[in-house]
Amino acid sequence: TEPLRVALLGCGTVGSSVARRLVEHPEEFSARVGRPLELVGVAVRDLDKPRDEAGLDRSLLTTDAEGLVTRADLVIELIGGIEPARSLILSAFEHGASVVTGNKALLGEDGPRLYEAASEAGVDLHFEAAVAGAIPLIRPMRESLAGDQVRRVMGIVNGTTNFILDKMDRTGADLADVLAEAQQLGYAEADPTADVEGHDAQAKAAILASLAFHTRVATSDVSCEGITAITSDDIRTVRRMGCVLKLLAICERVERPDGTAGVSARVHPTIVPRSHPLASVREAFNAVFVETELAGELMFYGPGAGADPTASAVLGDLVQAARHRVTGARGPGESAYAQLPVVPLGDV
Ligand code: NDP
Ligand code: HSE
Repeated sequence: TEPLRVALLGCGTVGSSVARRLVEHPEEFSARVGRPLELVGVAVRDLDKPRDEAGLDRSLLTTDAEGLVTRADLVIELIGGIEPARSLILSAFEHGASVVTGNKALLGEDGPRLYEAASEAGVDLHFEAAVAGAIPLIRPMRESLAGDQVRRVMGIVNGTTNFILDKMDRTGADLADVLAEAQQLGYAEADPTADVEGHDAQAKAAILASLAFHTRVATSDVSCEGITAITSDDIRTVRRMGCVLKLLAICERVERPDGTAGVSARVHPTIVPRSHPLASVREAFNAVFVETELAGELMFYGPGAGADPTASAVLGDLVQAARHRVTGARGPGESAYAQLPVVPLGDV
């Protein structure tokens, strides 16, 4: 059988774990998809960097990402940031390839354009890794809960800041020291200010609010305060109160005074009592509560960042997209949007 051609864009923290799994266990993918997957190339910036952890044949490496997407059935985008990631994804769609990405920065800024482009091209766009690392959250929000009405999504969606706040709480360390450790462990973004200033959680809140409320919420619609101003003194004070500080993302359906509904989304450090389940979320783990009309309260919990956990989500999406290529089925595609207005925080 003709293999499905896979192009990997980016071979950093997450990309190298994805590459290793594809190269070391081709038989698993072949069995699960019903057709072999062939990694046809891996786009990077620097061809000379050591990449032993990826376990790759170096002849697969290329700096020509544009050329690579034109010869693939499935494209995995793990470069991050807005450009060239956006142009490469759009080019992949134009060439008929389905795309898997973990790029929350891009989806939070320009998600609707990408969903529409995938829809027009008749291909899949999957992004389970974009929110809460390994935790299956996007697919439940997009598919399993599509017949229910979500009222609230609230939780810890950034592993780096949870790692930092947890370590500060347990050891009394300073933010800067613990951030360096989170970077070494592969939890932080290429530019870690996105984590500590809350922008990573802000983009994730935009993605979750859009899916939860079948509307369009961009990163800039989400009010945001990060953890850069938090000192070890603040942590000690909160500790003495029997509480813990957590950076929370909160997305809610709100009823406005005129009787119409809207959406409010925000990210900020929050004082959480130690008895609350969110208080016991340690290290780079994430936890998200989803409150719905019919299901009641659901809790999603697991590793929220790091190479292998994120690769799990990426590879799950890859299998799903590949199965669709084999059967001719399509991904969940765009929701019918309710166009709920975003309500500024001051009006909630
Ligand atoms: P890294 O910075 O570790 O890796 C980025 C990779 O992209 C590198 O291999 C780099 O090449 C390559 N790259 C950068 N620019 C270009 C370009 N112009 N052309 C070709 N290749 C390029 O990032 P991560 O692996 O940590 O993250 C990747 C994505 O996954 C991001 O969107 C991130 O937000 C997301 N993500 C990350 C998680 C994590 O825990 N780290 C968790 C969930 C999502 P080179 O190696 O040559 O420098
Ligand atoms: N930097 C992100 C985090 C990676 O710490 O949560 C996972 O999205």
